[in-house]
Amino acid sequence: MITRRAFLGAGTSGALALAAFTNESLARVAAAAARTRDAAPADLASDETYWSEIQQAFTLDRTLINLNNGGCCPSPRVVHEAFKRYLDLSNQAPVYHMWQILEPNIESVRRRLAAEFGCHPEEMAITRNASEALQIAQLGIDLKSGDEVVTTNQDYGRMLDTWDQRVRRDGITVRKISFPVPPPSMDDLADRLIGAIGPKTKVLHFCHITNLTGQIFPVKTICDAARAKGVKTIVDGAHAFAHFPYKASELGCDYYGTSLHKWLLAPIGTGFLYVRRENIEGLWGLQPTAASRAKDIRKFEEIGTHPAANHNAISEALSFHDGIGSARKAARLRFLRNRWASRLQATGKFRIHTSMDPAQSCAICTVQVLAVPTGKAVQQLWDKWRIIATPIVHAEYEGIRVTPNVYTTLEEIDTFAEAMERISTAS
Ligand SMILES: Cc1ncc(COP(=O)(O)O)c(C=O)c1O
Repeated sequence: MITRRAFLGAGTSGALALAAFTNESLARVAAAAARTRDAAPADLASDETYWSEIQQAFTLDRTLINLNNGGCCPSPRVVHEAFKRYLDLSNQAPVYHMWQILEPNIESVRRRLAAEFGCHPEEMAITRNASEALQIAQLGIDLKSGDEVVTTNQDYGRMLDTWDQRVRRDGITVRKISFPVPPPSMDDLADRLIGAIGPKTKVLHFCHITNLTGQIFPVKTICDAARAKGVKTIVDGAHAFAHFPYKASELGCDYYGTSLHKWLLAPIGTGFLYVRRENIEGLWGLQPTAASRAKDIRKFEEIGTHPAANHNAISEALSFHDGIGSARKAARLRFLRNRWASRLQATGKFRIHTSMDPAQSCAICTVQVLAVPTGKAVQQLWDKWRIIATPIVHAEYEGIRVTPNVYTTLEEIDTFAEAMERISTAS
């Protein structure tokens, strides 16, 4: 294998040499995949030799146990190095290197992302995050005074605030339905949303998987029913993409927005918006473009000057993701979740607000310490164990949201479970 020094000594530019060096982590992931080619996802989920290769692909602060991967995630080294490389290149002469060399490559990112999501590239706009993607749909869809939007009271705060602005500005109405956590069944969720559609309903907006408890919704059932009633569907997939496997054809929605700096592990400031082709022309951009662009999905990317590094490094994140494989990743995440959740559940001192049914959840799981207020428990996790977790305080329940990632070790999971047991008995 060529060493880094030999590479540099051979007169290759520093940036290229570093790229080859850091790409070794991708090669290690590929080698680990080749060694385990025949392993079923469920069997590989507990193969620590395989997962230690993945863990070492990251440059983390291991003095912390980061169980908030629901916020945003660290990128693997190979992604972060690419991101920095593109920034360095841009800075040589941005008007040339960034605009002429790097920016046009957004088209190959679009092609690969669309293939992973399962839509046509002409239906996919690359955005800076899920908020931007969803707000393009929420603010760009024509609605008039009196029209109704149906959503849930567990949708993301910013998205609910966006609808609220339309209530104040355009006189629309918003109906927010409630549902228990965990719900009795996925059919119950579908019935609640579909049942809420009334004569004035024009849009149904809901999460593919919620950020509060990680509840997965029966998206296709709901979208098909909405379409049959002439209602457009906006699905908030901020936490879904590259978290567990699915394709666009299994969703059937009109608009879909996701972040890529969460489960795809792409650089911070990346997301995408899917718009079903027949809806593109009628959807206004957040930032206006010439009328001649009306049918072009790229009209949603007209945001003025912005870095090309972020969106181009999505490609490396896709390669890293493919190197693991969607089904294997989801199986590992469920394995990690089950390891701590079943241990805590057995003590009788906790309430788990997330269904353990694999169809209804994956890495995200919210747990309440019955005898200790949530804020206090989260503070103790941090103060005594340097564990990062997120307090969730909803009008109808509260708990600690725990989100491990592919880089999380069993030791970290067990330390968390141990800490929670101690917190539950200390007061
Ligand atoms: C359900 C949900 N929707 C939307 C968002 C917004 O994502 P972003 O911050 O990437 O714009 C989040 C962020 O956590 C979320 O959890």
